[in-house]
Amino acid sequence: MQCDYFDAGLCRSCTLLDRPYPVQVAEKEARVRDLLGERHAPSAWLPTLTGPESGFRNKAKMVVGGTIDEPTLGILDGRGQGVDLRGCGLHTSGIQEALPTLAAFVTRARLLPYDVPRRRGEAKYVHVTESPSGELMVRFVLRSEQALPRLRSELPWLLEALPRVAVVSVNLLPEHKAVLEGTDEIVLTDRETLTMQLGGVDLELRPQSFFQTNTAIAAGLYAQAAEWVDAIDPATVWDLYCGVGGFALHVARPGAGRTSRHAHREVVGIETSEEAVASARGSARRAGLEHVRFAADDATRFATGASTGAGPSGTGTAPPELVIVNPPRRGIGATLAGWLEGSGVEHVVYSSCNPVTLASDLDAMPSFDVVAARVFDMFPQTPHLEAMALLRRR
Ligand SMILES: C[S@@+](CC[C@H](N)C(=O)[O-])C[C@H]1O[C@@H](n2cnc3c(N)ncnc32)[C@H](O)[C@@H]1O
Repeated sequence: MQCDYFDAGLCRSCTLLDRPYPVQVAEKEARVRDLLGERHAPSAWLPTLTGPESGFRNKAKMVVGGTIDEPTLGILDGRGQGVDLRGCGLHTSGIQEALPTLAAFVTRARLLPYDVPRRRGEAKYVHVTESPSGELMVRFVLRSEQALPRLRSELPWLLEALPRVAVVSVNLLPEHKAVLEGTDEIVLTDRETLTMQLGGVDLELRPQSFFQTNTAIAAGLYAQAAEWVDAIDPATVWDLYCGVGGFALHVARPGAGRTSRHAHREVVGIETSEEAVASARGSARRAGLEHVRFAADDATRFATGASTGAGPSGTGTAPPELVIVNPPRRGIGATLAGWLEGSGVEHVVYSSCNPVTLASDLDAMPSFDVVAARVFDMFPQTPHLEAMALLRRR
C-alpha cells in the first residue's frame, strides 16, 4: 500500500508499510508460532486469514486539531499540533468520503478544536464507524456541553450532506487526559444503533461498544469459531468478554449446516460494558434467539462465582461444556486461567489480540492441548494481529 502521509513523514503509525504484504503475513504467523513454542504447538495450523490490505478499518478515531475555519482530522504531532490525515487509506471508502464533510461540519457548527498544549477548546475527536451496508455512526467527543446547541442546530445540514449517517452522538470528555472518549454519551438521532451485518448475523452496535476493527476478518473469525464449536457440539457455551455478542450470536444456533445432538444451545455472554450488553440483547431479540443470555459482569468474577455457586455474581450456574474468551490485550490473567484449568470445562476457544498474553495464559492452563490455531490479519500494515486457538482438555 502506498501512502503519501507516510512518505512525507507525517504519520508513521503503519510501521510495516514498507514491507510487502505477504512478508508481513509470514512474519506475523512466525511470531505467533514462536511465542506458542513447542509447549503449545497446535496439532493443526490453519492458514492465516487475510483480507484487503487497505480500506479495511471500519472505524476512524480522528483527533480534531487546527482552527475552526481550517480544522484538521487526524493525529497530533510532537508539539501537539494537528496533522490532517483525512485521506488515510486504512479506512473504508465510506469513511474516507465522509471525513471532508465532517471537517466542514466542524467549521459550520463553530466547534473550536481542542488545543492540547493550551488546554483550550471544545472538539477533541471525531469517531466514525461504517457498517457493511454503508451506514455511518458519527460521534463528536467534546470537552463540555458548551457547543452542543450549535451542533444540534447544524445537525440537519450534516444529515442532508451525508444521508448515510444513521447515528450521531456527542461524547463528553471534560478531563485533560490521553483517552479517546468519556463516559457520558448524548445520542442526537432517533436511531441509537448501527447494524453490522456479518455472515447472516446482525450485530447491533451502540456508540460506546467495542467492535472488531476489520469487518471482513471479523466475519472470518466468528465463522471459524462457529465451525469449531459446531464440530464439538456442546449444549452449553459461555462467551466471556463478549462485547456486542459476536461470538455468542454466531454459535447460538447449534449445527448450522450439520447435525446436532441438541434442539438448542444455551449460551451466556459476559461483558463489563452495559452499552455492549444492551446491544447484544437487542441483537439476540431481533434474531429471535431465546436461549442466549447476556449479563454485565466481570468475566473472572462471573466464572469464579459460578464454580461455587456462591460468588459475588451469584450466578449459581454450573460451568459450561465450552468457554470462548476474547479478552483485551492484557489477556484473561492468572485467576481466570487457573479457574479454567481447575474447572470441568472440556473445550476453550481463545481469541487473542496479543499473542504474548495468549502464551502466558496457556502456560497457566497446562491441562489443555492446543488442537488448532489460526492467525487472522485484522490489522494489515501494523504488527498487530488476532490469533485464535481451540483448546481441548487432555
Ligand atoms: C477484544 S474485545 C472483544 C469483544 C467481543 N468478543 C467481540 O468479538 O467484539 C474485549 C471486550 O472485553 C470487555 N472487557 C474488558 N474487561 C472485561 C472484564 N474484566 N470482564 C468482562 N469483559 C471485559 C471490553 O469491554 C471489550 O468489549
